[in-house]
Amino acid sequence: MTEVKHTIIDEIGLIEISNPPVNAISASVRKGLLNSINELGANNLIKAIVIAAPGRTFLAGADIKEFGKNVDGPILSEVCDKIEVLDKVVVASLHGTPLGGGLEVAMSAHYRIAAPKTKVGLPEVLLGILPGAGGTQRLPRLCGVSMALDMMLTGRHVNIDEAFKNGIIDEIAEDDDTVKNGISYARRLLKRNSDVRPTSEISDKIDNLDEIKKTIEKIKSETLIKAKNLFSPHAIIKSVEEGLNLSFPNAIDNERRLFKECIESPQRQGLIHSFFAERAITKVPELELGKPKELKKIGVIGGGTMGTGISMAAMNAGFSVVMIEQNDEAIEKALTKINATYDRNVKLGRISSEQKNQIMSLFTAVTNMDNLIDRELVIEAVFENMEIKKQVFAKLNTICSKECILASNTSYLDVNEIASVVENPSRVIGLHFFSPANIMKLLEIVVADKTSDDTVATAFLLAKRMKKVPVRSGVCDGFIGNRVLSKYLIGTYHMVEDGASPFHIDTVLRNFGCAMGVFQVIDLAGGDIGWATRKRKAPFRHKDDRYVEIADRVCENGWFGQKTSKGYYLYGDGIKPLTANPEINIICENERQRVGIKPKSFSDQEILDKYIAAMVFEGVKILQEKIAIRPSDIDVVYTNGYGFPRWRGGPMKYADMVGLDKILLNIQKFSEEDPRFWSPPELLIDLVKNNKNFDSLN
Ligand code: 3HC
Ligand code: NAI
Repeated sequence: MTEVKHTIIDEIGLIEISNPPVNAISASVRKGLLNSINELGANNLIKAIVIAAPGRTFLAGADIKEFGKNVDGPILSEVCDKIEVLDKVVVASLHGTPLGGGLEVAMSAHYRIAAPKTKVGLPEVLLGILPGAGGTQRLPRLCGVSMALDMMLTGRHVNIDEAFKNGIIDEIAEDDDTVKNGISYARRLLKRNSDVRPTSEISDKIDNLDEIKKTIEKIKSETLIKAKNLFSPHAIIKSVEEGLNLSFPNAIDNERRLFKECIESPQRQGLIHSFFAERAITKVPELELGKPKELKKIGVIGGGTMGTGISMAAMNAGFSVVMIEQNDEAIEKALTKINATYDRNVKLGRISSEQKNQIMSLFTAVTNMDNLIDRELVIEAVFENMEIKKQVFAKLNTICSKECILASNTSYLDVNEIASVVENPSRVIGLHFFSPANIMKLLEIVVADKTSDDTVATAFLLAKRMKKVPVRSGVCDGFIGNRVLSKYLIGTYHMVEDGASPFHIDTVLRNFGCAMGVFQVIDLAGGDIGWATRKRKAPFRHKDDRYVEIADRVCENGWFGQKTSKGYYLYGDGIKPLTANPEINIICENERQRVGIKPKSFSDQEILDKYIAAMVFEGVKILQEKIAIRPSDIDVVYTNGYGFPRWRGGPMKYADMVGLDKILLNIQKFSEEDPRFWSPPELLIDLVKNNKNFDSLN
């Protein structure tokens, strides 16, 4: 329950805020805080005021759920201004993560003390907004423009030592007792006769305007490249830059105006959707029932692209790893790759060489699978071939302890079938990491028919230890991510055969905000992987399915992308990125001629419409079949594993924003030409009929 209460201890007024779990600043917190400030401010017996928020953390920011809604009560900016002009010394006593509006409240106090592990930040940029309660004006006054802009443009959490060193915090407390810290600091300030110290009047770090101008120009040009498509980073820089030439109250008004522009931007909607979507992923039925097990010892089978990445992800999280490879040569190759990755990190100063040695001491690579006997989890990452995987699992069944969890990193194969060779299939699960597995955050947790709740719960705990973003998926061909990918890849090749250039399609997708175009991704992953999958699926393809052979023609030339220096693009020393392989257009033209298609031209919008329609189409099927629990899980998969722009919220959120009626109309239109591929899914028709969106299913 939200509560703001104040008490008087000797000559100190104490304001305690409580709004679990993270003391977010909701309308009632703002009202309560303002009320307490007014009452204590008017009390002549009080000489100092302490603001604290006992519980998990000092205020973690504005209540994000209120954005875009009409809520009553004072705005936070006004509350902060009222705090700053009080004629009594105001102390903010911090602990936990004072973020966003929380740090803004703290900066409007005259002094700040913080518990030892406190981290502060202004992460509004990650939500598509800017600090709108004086943060863009007060932070530069405390720590200088360069650090303030760095904090606001990255949203990073700054640890207490850095915050103290740079003037954001005045004192580091000895322990976590936030009320005690605040009161004792206020007493010391009063004893020293310390005066009120409004942050708006501190100017020593912002008085060198020439220097600051240069700093801002540099940051501006970097941001133009880094955050080309984004709105709020530029608004943050603008607010700081313009504020320096305005009176403080006018600078605050200007910040407010820019804040409102951000709030109204669709990017804010997309990013806030992503924030809540990423917090919903752990709401899965198995976690309510299952008991997670803390693991220490992991086995990895296969030391190729994925096996090495998974091993590093595990070692980085402190697990000991035994890797199994087929022969000494393969072990040597895997070791070289792992060593090179850590050596690079040492060279870049990310870790020390002692840390590298410590991490490597967790690693053993051998050929004999008997060495897996003491492992608590084994992750298989051998070739994508059902027979090989079954052989491996049958062997694991005899070697590993009965409690050992057996996981497959398969991209597409049926985890139920893999589990069928294990005596106790309740301990079999899919753990679908993404490449490079030591970097990519997404982890699909594939729950097979017989997987136990405990196994699922342990997989989620593992993901947490590895700092991954886990999304639960049911079993189907390709799970959530690759199944959607397969659909839009086919749709994309239809467009190419109909006349669109692969390079045009990639440009449209990059302009939309995707990290890469479809064909860039194929080149990166290796065209041979998709080729092998297509061959595997060929016997099951219906004779009436439209099958475009362009990709096969490309692969038949041995053009697998980056690994062969040639794919849809050309690679190599001195070749500019995104240099098109000129022979691709010839292949496309030949194929169109061969099948008798007269090429038509595609507008950017037509390309985008088809791409989105294909994603949403398969997303809806996945929901219908209950492979994904909710639409926002599909969004999390796409924003964390496939480079879909986070600020668009993910494909399902984007569809909501475009309007499901429009998406359905497009699908209906496409299905007139190709009903086998595009026949509109029931769930989508129902949602449109009932005037509902995907969010209503979240
Ligand atoms: N508003 C509303 N709810 C919030 C919230 C916020 N600012 N921050 C967290 N929550 C909710 C989460 O949704 C979650 O709810 P759930 O249990 O129902 O899923 C719950 O609080 C706990 O959050 P986490 O699971 O994320 O808990 P962690 O301990 O892992 O992390 C945290 C805590 C670091 C505070 C993290 O939640 C976080 O980063 N929160 C957002 C902080 C932020 O962005 N603040 C700025 C807000 S914008 C602003 O202040 C505008 C101002 O300038 C005017
Ligand atoms: P890879 O070909 O790079 O590596 C496979 C390795 O397994 C090889 O080094 C091989 O020697 C080894 N191996 C084969 N049989 C073995 C056995 N019986 N015992 C021990 N080692 C054995 O393949 P990659 O790319 O690492 O893929 C592995 C699995 O991960 C596949 O199922 C793949 O679908 C999946 N995957 C691949 C992704 C990618 O981007 N490459 C992404 C996500 C999953």
